[in-house]
Amino acid sequence: MSQQLRFGVIGWPLSHTLSPIFQQAALDAMGLDATYMAAATSPDVIEMRLQEAREGNWRGLNVTVPHKIRVAELVDELTPSAKRMGAVNTIDVAGCKLIGDNTDADGFARALTQYGGFDPSGVRAVILGAGGAARAVAWALRDLGVSHLTVANRHPARAETVATAVDGESLATSAFGLSGPELKRAISRATLLVNTTSVGMAGGPAPAGLPVPSSWLKQQLFVCDIVYQPAETPMLTSARNIGCRTQGGLEMLVLQGAASLERWTERRAPLPTMMRAARSALSAPTA
Ligand code: ATR
Repeated sequence: MSQQLRFGVIGWPLSHTLSPIFQQAALDAMGLDATYMAAATSPDVIEMRLQEAREGNWRGLNVTVPHKIRVAELVDELTPSAKRMGAVNTIDVAGCKLIGDNTDADGFARALTQYGGFDPSGVRAVILGAGGAARAVAWALRDLGVSHLTVANRHPARAETVATAVDGESLATSAFGLSGPELKRAISRATLLVNTTSVGMAGGPAPAGLPVPSSWLKQQLFVCDIVYQPAETPMLTSARNIGCRTQGGLEMLVLQGAASLERWTERRAPLPTMMRAARSALSAPTA
């Protein structure tokens, strides 16, 4: 009898994660004898969790807030994309070796261009936040050809690190704190604004908050929030109210998860099934 495959997502807090819902729907649709579960993992037990994986308890793991950067330092090997970003959202367990991969950048790029219908080539963009997700978004926007990128973060030194990493011949960058006139001006000149902070996330540090004042938004902006729970964050509500085009984080979430699943199983992921499962879970009333 073959052993059931175990997959999961590690993060902290994890109470609002949708990954088990759409990943399990995918595994079932693929006819695999496998389970996918939320494995709440606080920062002080992250090494223990990875050891469990080395010992064969997990076939693959997704990694979310706040572990993406730390996990990149703890795995045994990094794929080129995870190495470039210094962040891991997917762990592939190969024997007792942990291979860290990153599917966030591709997930974000596909979500923005194919689902959001936005072409960022040649535009000025602003990223709010400088964690693991911000690194992936910054690399995706560089690859998609934005002309200028501002990274802004509560701790400005982290913004500087992300901006410096992607700065290059075809991409000029700047880095600021989250408040202050420089960021306000950068947003006023931008066409694309992406929130990667956990501000506005249900169960996060500031669920009712906005990462920047709503008065800084303007109608010409395409506003994207990679937070997916709730489907419409306070920032997206403000943006929509002034007539901006907006996009939430659900498509990126599902696309990065589908790419993880394809890496683990070497099979095509059933994307429509996954999108349907995630959308209906998100629109279902919560207890
Ligand atoms: P991930 O890897 O998923 O991006 P992370 O590395 O924990 O998660 O990053 C979370 C981001 O949200 C960071 O940019 C963090 O800002 P700091 O680097 O200054 O900590 C940002 N963030 C979290 N809580 C915040 C808050 N209350 N106000 C503003 N930014 C916040």
